[in-house]
Amino acid sequence: MNNKHLTFLDIIKLSVEYLEKRGVPNAKCDTEWIVSNITQKKRVELYLNYENMVAENHVHEIRKNIIERGKRIPLQHILGKVNFAGSELLCDQRALIPRPETELLTELVTDELGSSFKGKILDLGTGTGGIIITLCKNFPHAIGLGVDISKEALSLACENLAKNKIKNLEIKPFNWNEDEFNEKFDAIIANPPYLSEREWESAEPEVKIFDPKIALVAKDDGIADIKKIIKISENNLVKNGLFALEIGVNQEKKIADMMSVCFYKINIIKDYCRKNRYIIARKK
Ligand SMILES: C[S@@+](CC[C@H](N)C(=O)[O-])C[C@H]1O[C@@H](n2cnc3c(N)ncnc32)[C@H](O)[C@@H]1O
Repeated sequence: MNNKHLTFLDIIKLSVEYLEKRGVPNAKCDTEWIVSNITQKKRVELYLNYENMVAENHVHEIRKNIIERGKRIPLQHILGKVNFAGSELLCDQRALIPRPETELLTELVTDELGSSFKGKILDLGTGTGGIIITLCKNFPHAIGLGVDISKEALSLACENLAKNKIKNLEIKPFNWNEDEFNEKFDAIIANPPYLSEREWESAEPEVKIFDPKIALVAKDDGIADIKKIIKISENNLVKNGLFALEIGVNQEKKIADMMSVCFYKINIIKDYCRKNRYIIARKK
């Protein structure tokens, strides 16, 4: 990638080769996002302009970003942003990169609450704030509260709240191992840490090095934080309140059993990969 005089096609080909040599998954797609972000052209436009020269300063920036991606820095950290359920969120090492599976969780909750919902929603372990920002946008008459133990995540969530101009939402610190709420909620949502130490060990470098470990790993084979969250939901949901959780692979039975005492209509739902990924229930 030393040549300064490169067309769009040249730079895409060279970048994809560079990333593939370093074992980066989705090399072509990531290259397109980087080139598109730097040149401010839509991905499809890159190919409509494929014989045009890329400006020298853009070549320099693209090269810098591609080298970073080659070091397995996640694409979302390089771009500094991610699209989550239609909202642009700032994204960096302060919090977990919000995942497409979690977008589906917000859709399921939105459908379940119904368009006229205007109650109180709690998002436990809010990270970037993606879940609660989406729900507060979908339900402008609801009141949202997003909490997290991580000061870094909270600062990022506050920036995302301001960026998305959300007025019906508060973000504050909370540790579910120590703190309690003295209020009730109409809906409690969580995408908690649910990986076992072993699952985390075998994750890709993007996850192991750049996502905060506290956002991913829980004791007792990934179940410990979910247990705490179920307890909070038992105590702090109103009768018939909605409880929605994102869960790990093969955890559904254990979790549904734990929930059976205080919840009804316990529904296990699959993600786009046909894995049991969500549990949605109502408080008895
Ligand atoms: C899987 S991440 C989810 C982040 C975000 N909700 C999302 O879906 O992208 C779990 C979050 O739980 C937070 N967390 C971990 N332990 C916690 C605790 N004891 N109390 C409160 N939050 C905690 C982490 O900091 C992290 O932001």
